[in-house]
Amino acid sequence: MKITYTHELPANKKADALVIGVYEGMKNLTKEEALQLKNLNFSGKVREVVTLPGTENFKTLIYVGLGKKSELKSDTVRLAAAKGVKSAKKVKAKKVVFELFGVDKLKEKAAKAVAEGIVLGNYQFKKYKSGKEEKFEIEKITVAGEKEYEKEFETGYILAEAANFTRNIVNEPGNVVTPEKLAEIAEEISEEYSFKCKVFKEKDLEKNQMVGILTVGRGSKNPPRFIHITYKPKNPKKRIVLVGKGVTFDSGGLNIKPEQFMKTMKSDKAGACAVLGIMKAIGQLKPDVEVHALIPTVENMPDGKAYRPDDIIVYKNGKSVEIHSTDAEGRLILADALIYGSELEPDVMIDMATLTGACVVALGHYTSGLFTEDDKLATALLKLSSETGEKMWRMPLDEDLKEDIKGTYSDLQNVGKTRYGGAITAALFLRNFVDSKKVKSWAHIDIAGPAFLDKEWKYYSAGASGQPVRTIVEFIVES
Ligand code: BES
Ligand code: ZN
Ligand code: ZN
Repeated sequence: MKITYTHELPANKKADALVIGVYEGMKNLTKEEALQLKNLNFSGKVREVVTLPGTENFKTLIYVGLGKKSELKSDTVRLAAAKGVKSAKKVKAKKVVFELFGVDKLKEKAAKAVAEGIVLGNYQFKKYKSGKEEKFEIEKITVAGEKEYEKEFETGYILAEAANFTRNIVNEPGNVVTPEKLAEIAEEISEEYSFKCKVFKEKDLEKNQMVGILTVGRGSKNPPRFIHITYKPKNPKKRIVLVGKGVTFDSGGLNIKPEQFMKTMKSDKAGACAVLGIMKAIGQLKPDVEVHALIPTVENMPDGKAYRPDDIIVYKNGKSVEIHSTDAEGRLILADALIYGSELEPDVMIDMATLTGACVVALGHYTSGLFTEDDKLATALLKLSSETGEKMWRMPLDEDLKEDIKGTYSDLQNVGKTRYGGAITAALFLRNFVDSKKVKSWAHIDIAGPAFLDKEWKYYSAGASGQPVRTIVEFIVES
């Protein structure tokens, strides 16, 4: 699908469909139009959409509700744009025109949200479908808006394309995207945007004492990797380290998952894929910030060589960990990356991971857990998250739960003594590997809920959502 932005009025265009945003009260429509829509039970409320036969210029008219103008939010605009694109697809429109709605209230924020809604709403993972009907794609979308909004529209396009890039990798199954494949993708985008990229193979992993990655990776015939991508502009204002969990498939290992929980575990690489998507956007937006992307990646499988409960491993920072469950593998590989990331002495280090089922129990499928001791960082991320619609909720690093992950024979154990507070004990575990003398500020985002959706939600189709790509890119650009 091609998207172009035009300063021409929509009325001067021709297409198969025209998408129009409508506030409650329908003041932007003629009396006849408004009456006709009312008869179809459409009044401009949020989530409403109606399709009507059109005029000579536009075969179909698609009206999308924006709700009350006084209450308009970015995410409403995003959702309306997505509804528009989905309806256009339903009527098999090849050429579609959008009028840029929402800018009368939200200005450039709406322009960005329209672009995002169109690109995110248009996304479906259809690579492996062979049916022609299912393969239908809109050929061209033209968005008609004022010149002053063009730049932000383009930013929105870049952000959403980056999220879709992430979704494409997450949706690939474990037989296609292995740790080696993930490294290849990292090398490809590094080539494209002139980043430095280093991929650690077994020997480098040993040399760097990355015991978590080596230990968890041992049970799979697909070897583990550690990826380090660097974006370094001329005069960076800040240094940010990103870390993403890259478990290409999580069977649970010897503590094998029951079948209902193993299905969808191709999504356990979503943190890593988000970091790759973020870098893709960074390559295009070129902020004055140095960004390091770190990806520990393994496949967690049961095997004669697999690691086992009771095993004890000792990390480069001296901390020893007893394995209580081979299914709590994410924190083990993230630990290596956090130790490595600390050495880069960043201003901010943010890790993102599909880390715990407990976080999904706590917050549901639509909200990520945000853990940080830095109130300023929390405020900044939460504010952006409410704008992007990638919902986050702050969770506590409760000191009283530290006791829960204290080891019997070693410093730590990789699972809490009870199930309770499982998302928190996982975050507390990670904190042991962040060197507070070298890292000014650290945040952990547990994306186990929103990274992969079991059904359609808002502008997302079922499957990978590409969260939290847009929020983190915005954060970096604002830094
Ligand atoms: N990858 C899972 C967490 C997960 C669960 C992600 C649901 C997405 C959806 C993680 O490796 C895991 O298995 N965690 C265990 C930890 C437990 C053994 C302490 C869990 O959450 O049950
Ligand atoms: Zn697991
Ligand atoms: Zn996992």
